[in-house]
Amino acid sequence: MKFTSLSLLTLMLLATVSALPAASPKDLARRNIPLKPSEDSFYSNPAGFESAAPGTILKNRDLPSTIATLGLIPANIKYTQQILYRTTNALGDPAAGVATILIPYNADYTKLLSYQIAEDAASINCSPSYALQFASDSGGFAGTIVTQLEWLIIQGTLEQGWPVVLPDHLGLNGTFLANYASGKHVLDAVRATLASQSFSGIDPDAKVALWGYSGGSLASAAAAELRDTYAPELDNIVATVLGGPVPDIENAVKVLNKGIFAGLIPNGVLGLANAYPAFAPIIQEHLLPSKKAEFNTAYDTCLGASALRFILHDLFAYFDDFDALLAMEEIQTVLTANDLGHAIPTIPIYMYKSILDEIDGIGYTDKLYKTYCNGGAKVKYVRDLISEHGTLAAFGAPKALTFLAKAFRGETVVTKCTKTNTLSSLLDISTATIVPDFLKDTILDLLYKPVGPFLIG
Ligand SMILES: *[C@@H]1O[C@H](CO)[C@@H](O)[C@H](O)[C@H]1NC(C)=O
Repeated sequence: MKFTSLSLLTLMLLATVSALPAASPKDLARRNIPLKPSEDSFYSNPAGFESAAPGTILKNRDLPSTIATLGLIPANIKYTQQILYRTTNALGDPAAGVATILIPYNADYTKLLSYQIAEDAASINCSPSYALQFASDSGGFAGTIVTQLEWLIIQGTLEQGWPVVLPDHLGLNGTFLANYASGKHVLDAVRATLASQSFSGIDPDAKVALWGYSGGSLASAAAAELRDTYAPELDNIVATVLGGPVPDIENAVKVLNKGIFAGLIPNGVLGLANAYPAFAPIIQEHLLPSKKAEFNTAYDTCLGASALRFILHDLFAYFDDFDALLAMEEIQTVLTANDLGHAIPTIPIYMYKSILDEIDGIGYTDKLYKTYCNGGAKVKYVRDLISEHGTLAAFGAPKALTFLAKAFRGETVVTKCTKTNTLSSLLDISTATIVPDFLKDTILDLLYKPVGPFLIG
């Protein structure tokens, strides 16, 4: 009989599964139905928190329920913890934020990845800290599907042995598209996590990297831009990875309307309304009475559910005069304040984007690359041909992981700005060894394998 690589994989699976530790009683006990954040007092500004410095841990706790793949299959992670920390909201006022710290087995405590999930919603109940737990509510049919799929990528980062922090970077008010507030939530979550050694074990001097795709890249880019002014002491951030960035909001709105992802428009408009109280009444005033209730469902539905509800809809036709609304000074000020490119990151950047991206095209990402590079940033920019926005999230991940691993090892990852086209980031030769591992680990993790690198000796 000839061994195919598939039967080898099956044998490895069987061997590993039989060696797995049984679920501990503690894990089983934590398979509860977690409270929605809107009903959970952990998600609120505690008394007197304003006087704490940004990045201060205000509270921490075990997760109410265990982290689970697709919300169903418990993952075997060595240690998880939720933190509530002091940060700053879009108005510049003190705010509390929530983040999830994950420690894999065989962790390297001298490294920390801050991964920003593309939550893209206006409801606190879509927060990743909640959505990734067993038996969480999805905020409408398939509402948190993107978060659930990104979990597979996050698991791939834990398999490298890196401790990971997942900030709820849209804050306690669901402020999607308030990008610079998200950036502050990221930087403060990193500060808080680096101060968590007493319970997490993470080295306060750990090397840090930032990564996010799409909505997660907005928070990551804003954090990289803000680092020098908002958190200059975080001088140990070695790399920022931006997948599928969407640098210009008005452009994206125009490209998205009537398309597959038109539902991002209500989520974004209401996210900004949550962030800027003066924005909300203007939007409500210009919504047609017959369309108001439907549009406002996006206050409660997570990304996937909004996408399904509004697929191919002409959202501009929900307003009395959308062009006039868009042109208003109050609106323009908020939009341009949250477009990327307000400052030049001094952290090395790897940026990848689909040339055929259907969210906002490639032009504004080319423009952001130019802005950053003209300002002296170091950016490795790869434009991918055989993909679109959704598939590049998966296809681009192995190459991004490779880049992060090099940066964490202390290698110089970017010396100058480079812009290249590739047929496919997945087929790129430098990722060839990571892809099979990535797939194998994902399958094994579904079988409750301890998440983390396998070390001998
Ligand atoms: C949420 O929004 C309300 C109303 O604008 C504001 O008072 C509150 O401080 C915000 N909370 C956070 C955490 O930003």
